[in-house]
Amino acid sequence: MHSLSGGGHVEPSFSSLGLVVKLKLGIFFASMISVSCFLALGLLSSTATGSGLPPAGIPGSIQRNLVEPRRSEPLKRSTGVNEQTCTAPPGAESNLRSNTHSFTFTLGSVSPLWLSWVGEGSGVLLVLTTFQVPLFMMRFGQSNLYRSEDYGKTFKDVSHLINHTFVHSEFGIASSPDNSGKVILVGEVSEIGGARLFRSQDFGLTFVPTDLPFEPLFQIQYNPGDCNTLLSLSITSDLWLSEDFGATWRKIHDSACMVRWGPKNSIYITTNYNGSCNDKGMLALRKTTDYGQTFKTIATRVYSFILGGKFLIASIMTGKGTQRVIHVSVDGGEVWNMAQLPIIDPEQFYSVLEADQDLIFIHVDDPGDSGVGTIYVSDDRGIVFSKSLERNIYTTTGGDTDFTTVKSLRGVYMTTVLTEDGTMETMITFDQGGRWQTLHGPKNSHCDSGTSTNRPITCRLHIHASYSTTLKMNVPSLPYSQPNAVGLILAHGSVGDGESALSPNVYVSDDGGYSWFLALTGPHHYEILDSGALLLAVEHTNSPVNQIKFSTNEGQCWNIYNFTNDPLYFGAIVSEPGFRSMNVSLWGYRNRKKIVITIDFRMLLTRDCTEKDYVQWMAHSTDPNGLQDGCVLGYKETFLRLRKDSVCWNGRDYAVAKKLAPCTCTMDDYHCDFGYYRRENSSECVEQEEMIGRPLEFCLNGTAEQLQTSGYRKIPGDQCEGGFQPTRKEIELKRICTSNLLHQNSPSETSSPNAAIIVMIVIVILLMSGVAGVWLVKKYVCGGRFLVHRYSVMREHIEANKIEEVDDVDTQNVETGKAQYNEDSDQDLLE
Ligand SMILES: *[C@@H]1O[C@H](CO)[C@@H](O)[C@H](O)[C@H]1NC(C)=O
Ligand SMILES: *[C@@H]1O[C@H](CO)[C@@H](O)[C@H](O)[C@H]1NC(C)=O
Ligand SMILES: *[C@@H]1O[C@H](CO)[C@@H](O)[C@H](O)[C@H]1NC(C)=O
Ligand SMILES: *[C@@H]1O[C@H](CO)[C@@H](O)[C@H](O)[C@H]1NC(C)=O
Ligand SMILES: *[C@@H]1O[C@H](CO)[C@@H](O)[C@H](O)[C@H]1NC(C)=O
Repeated sequence: MHSLSGGGHVEPSFSSLGLVVKLKLGIFFASMISVSCFLALGLLSSTATGSGLPPAGIPGSIQRNLVEPRRSEPLKRSTGVNEQTCTAPPGAESNLRSNTHSFTFTLGSVSPLWLSWVGEGSGVLLVLTTFQVPLFMMRFGQSNLYRSEDYGKTFKDVSHLINHTFVHSEFGIASSPDNSGKVILVGEVSEIGGARLFRSQDFGLTFVPTDLPFEPLFQIQYNPGDCNTLLSLSITSDLWLSEDFGATWRKIHDSACMVRWGPKNSIYITTNYNGSCNDKGMLALRKTTDYGQTFKTIATRVYSFILGGKFLIASIMTGKGTQRVIHVSVDGGEVWNMAQLPIIDPEQFYSVLEADQDLIFIHVDDPGDSGVGTIYVSDDRGIVFSKSLERNIYTTTGGDTDFTTVKSLRGVYMTTVLTEDGTMETMITFDQGGRWQTLHGPKNSHCDSGTSTNRPITCRLHIHASYSTTLKMNVPSLPYSQPNAVGLILAHGSVGDGESALSPNVYVSDDGGYSWFLALTGPHHYEILDSGALLLAVEHTNSPVNQIKFSTNEGQCWNIYNFTNDPLYFGAIVSEPGFRSMNVSLWGYRNRKKIVITIDFRMLLTRDCTEKDYVQWMAHSTDPNGLQDGCVLGYKETFLRLRKDSVCWNGRDYAVAKKLAPCTCTMDDYHCDFGYYRRENSSECVEQEEMIGRPLEFCLNGTAEQLQTSGYRKIPGDQCEGGFQPTRKEIELKRICTSNLLHQNSPSETSSPNAAIIVMIVIVILLMSGVAGVWLVKKYVCGGRFLVHRYSVMREHIEANKIEEVDDVDTQNVETGKAQYNEDSDQDLLE
């Protein structure tokens, strides 16, 4: 098995989102997905309690080093202890005051609230509240719908449009991903004992009611390629399709378990005719490309599957019993290949962290309940994997890992590892998993006290992400980065030789994670506006708030604006997805009424940016005089970025401008090949001892291939030219072998195995002896583009009962779904 240490495993994935939702496959799948919708898009810091998932198992070794999360530590901190305050632009206060709008909802506030933007730049925002009263065996429910056309400044009660029909709160509002203004609500009508769709094609101005011939199990899924086509799974596992935006429906399959839109109008489903969806490993994976006229079975004995980037990834049962192995297809399921997998026991799991057009990042759980595992990266076919990072934290039960894709700079990912001596450390890679390193200490911050080890303190920055939120630490927002705010990352963190459980501060990087500085003291909710030209933050506290902080220089200094004289219990900060807006809404409540305060910052940035406001900035620059400076994955990028001292408006049409230049190849453009590894601090790939002198063979598309390598394999997507060009050949051995286990009658090996290590055989042996517990993790697909917020009932109770002390409960409450909102939903990942 050590021979596989250079190899990988696989897992489904999606990514780009920090928060992945573990799907309980099978029967639970459908219900989980609706929950995840809520979770992923709604409660950023939502934790196990909120999602209905079991609480994360925290291995003792990790817990040991986490000091008790804040008990009675006062949350209130005076602002400006460390953070720099700026002189506000002249007239800012009065300017903002005349552009601040407040709207109070007349409804009582005990119900969850859903929010959805409709279209892009339309300013239309729909808000849904539902409440339900259990009465004997029945439930009586009612919903209210509100609509704003001005980015949340004013709302109209339009509940009559849906006749106050009760809308499942888990379903929420489904707004079409193509921004064409389509909206769907799924109502429950007790008279007809069924479901009624309310469909709008005019940005929620009018709704057409349509009674459904079935009861949906979760929200309707839009075909990302054509939003007139909808898919829905019924509570009786029938699959229904509509090609006319929900007016008429036809049943296209029964016994469906998991359902996904794929690229080019394709639909992938798992089914089980003879059993239940609970019989994992007994499912058939089927695909249709003609909207259900015909289905083709593309895999059997399927445990689960996932679509991500160009990859279709499935876990398949082997021979008999409980063992399974990952198969990968890059052509939508026509040809499958088994991926290399290290041996794992039943309690272990795989999790795809990311899958894009180039490669797959996967986490393989270590044996035992260690809470850590190893990250592997794949080749461009998803078959051969290299070890990327060990001891990555990922709990078995809760699906919590800090793995984060930094969206503001290519090739950058962060995660947290548990070191041998039990501390948690943030690691970052700038070259797509080639090498990882710790973060530098922030320029302007001291070590936080609270670390109790005796070793010399190394002042490194440690970022708090999903894992911290599941520990109920006081982290109201996850790390935040956006493609159009180049190089910018906002994150909560602490400084020391390991992650500290003290109340974290907000740190900002403006160069994609190379350097960091302390931006705000104490936890905050934050938001990016105008493609990074404006940053906003609201302090996270249990007391009512009346202040918002804003920065026009990427977080270097902050101004304070008192947006109201009558503080409110803050819920969430919300702006239109896409980060181009200048309007921001602060949701909260006061006197048991929900309230939204919308501030238009447009008049603050009084002038449009011109050419002179931008400077050239080389990404990944670490050695300004070096020839290879800025080279990552074979090329360098120079961006035009806003000057820090420019206070101006990028505008809605702002597009990131960049120039590319090719680089010559070096060892750093290569992953170590199968059977090779890198020593610490070295670029050179050396052969694993046990592999020396043995030819490597593996099975590709049913034919044995011999790999002749000098140890290097170009990183998928790397565009370097010339320079270091190690030899690597795959020689076809003209021998048939088993490259996948999908077809029982696969021909067996025709030549006798020689001394060579035949990778596939190794794998098969592994499979015989071990069981791969595969959990497919994926970013959630709600079938639409929406942004959801939920106001915690608990919070309102707290206010009502005048309970001063709010414990963990509040961190999981209201959060801006924004950080969770992600334009690359997995649907978008499929091209
Ligand atoms: C609205 O609901 C009421 C009571 O549920 C019902 O009597 C009425 O017919 C409904 N109106 C429409 C237009 O559906
Ligand atoms: C279902 O079961 C029947 C008999 O038990 C069997 O003939 C049939 O092949 C099974 N179908 C599938 C899809 O497994
Ligand atoms: C803003 O509000 C704070 C209290 O939250 C108060 O101390 C401060 O004086 C106010 N500033 C202005 C300019 O009103
Ligand atoms: C802010 O909202 C107003 C409407 O109240 C709208 O006209 C304006 O375009 C919005 N600004 C931005 C940048 O979205
Ligand atoms: C690798 O480099 C770091 C920092 O330069 C150093 O602390 C460490 O000891 C090095 N490791 C080895 C094995 O040389």
